[in-house]
Formats: sequence, C-alpha cells, structure tokens
Amino acid sequence: MKPVNAAIIYYSSTGTVHALARAATEGAEKAGARVRLRKVAELAPPGAISAHPAWGQHLQDTADVAEASLDDLDWADVVLFGTPTRFGNPASQLRAFIDTTGGLWRQGRLADKVYSAFTASGTAHGGQESTLLAMGNVFYHWGGIIVPPGYTDPVQFQTGNPYGTSHVAGDGPPNDVALEAARYQARRAVDTAAALKAGRAA
Ligand SMILES: Cc1cc2nc3c(=O)[nH]c(=O)nc-3n(C[C@H](O)[C@H](O)[C@H](O)COP(=O)(O)O)c2cc1C
Repeated sequence: MKPVNAAIIYYSSTGTVHALARAATEGAEKAGARVRLRKVAELAPPGAISAHPAWGQHLQDTADVAEASLDDLDWADVVLFGTPTRFGNPASQLRAFIDTTGGLWRQGRLADKVYSAFTASGTAHGGQESTLLAMGNVFYHWGGIIVPPGYTDPVQFQTGNPYGTSHVAGDGPPNDVALEAARYQARRAVDTAAALKAGRAA
C-alpha cells in the first residue's frame, strides 16, 4: 500500500503554533506518512506586523516554509490544522485559506479524509476548546472524519485536552508535554488514515 499523505497546515504569528506544527510533522513522519508542512499566507498589513518585533521575526524565520495550496488538501489523506486562538476562534489567515476550498468541497474532494486540529492561546481559559470546536464545524461541512486525541495515550492525561493539542503561549514556548501531545495527535491521525486507506484498498 502507498504511504499515507499527511498535510500539516497552520498559521502562526509568533511561533507557538509553528512549533506545534513541527512536532506534528515529526509524529506524522514517525508513523510512516509522507508529510507536507505548510503555512497559510500572512494577510496582516505590514504596519501591524512591524509593530510587534516577534511577529516580524517569525515571518523571517519561516520564510522557507512553503505556503499551503489547494493541491495540498487534495493530495492529503489526513490534514492537521494548527491555529492560534483569536477571540475564541481560528485565526482569520487560516479561515481565509479555508474560504478558498469551495471548489474542492463542491466536488466532494474534501470528504472522507481524516482531520484533526491543534491550537495555542494566550491564557489558560482563553478559548482553546472553542477554537478547536470551530475547526470541527468546517470538518463536518467537508464530510471529514474527525480524529481527536481524546484520552487515548498517557500524554493526554498530562496535557489534558481531548479536543486537540493546545498550549498556553503566555507560559512560554511549547514544553515537552505539548510537543509530545502534538506528535501523538499526528501519529494517531495518520494511523487512522492508514487503516482507512488499507480498508478501502481491500
Ligand atoms: C487579535 C488577537 C486575539 C486573540 N484572542 C485570544 C483569545 O481569545 N484568547 C487567548 O487566550 N488568547 C488570545 N490571543 C493570544 C493568541 O492566542 C496567542 O498570542 C497565540 O496563541 C500565540 O500563537 P503564535 O505564537 O503561534 O502566534 C489573541 C491574540 C490576538 C493578536
């Protein structure tokens, strides 16, 4: 059987979600997937970015990460989306990318894939779950197969978020537990996609 194709598609202003996306990439690769790590386009005006040195720095640091395209979605058997929490919702940059998927959706080409999501917020009760649930709304509309981490691995009892990996950016960069949770979440999503792929091929 061909390996599973996994797309990790994310937005990050200051690197937190990017770090989780890199860990998810490691987890997906370890599970045997071919992986495309993709950032969505930055849409904020230059003035807003330059007002926050960490934002501009992160843009520079990730200049080599390819931008997400519709082909990445079409190619993938499993897609993990990462986004900061913005007022309890996914970031507009990621939503703008999602809003370009109407053509694929209409052709049914987003259906039957495995989807999962991860996030970061500034504070501990700042809306991580609502952001992840909002991503779930998109997956429902696409006819996706949502694979959350649940409490299916010991690391989930440490990180404590069954909806998807999440990190409180106000506490600093993602720690080992958050990174391991992102690796695990990706592994689980890829394993599920592999089982589906094998079952469909049989
Ligand atoms: C416009 C805006 C809205 C935000 N809304 C929230 C929020 O509702 N709850 C919260 O805890 N943090 C909020 N934050 C903080 C971000 O979630 C946090 O900076 C982000 O997760 C860091 O991820 P990044 O380093 O990948 O950009 C907000 C930040 C911005 C700029």
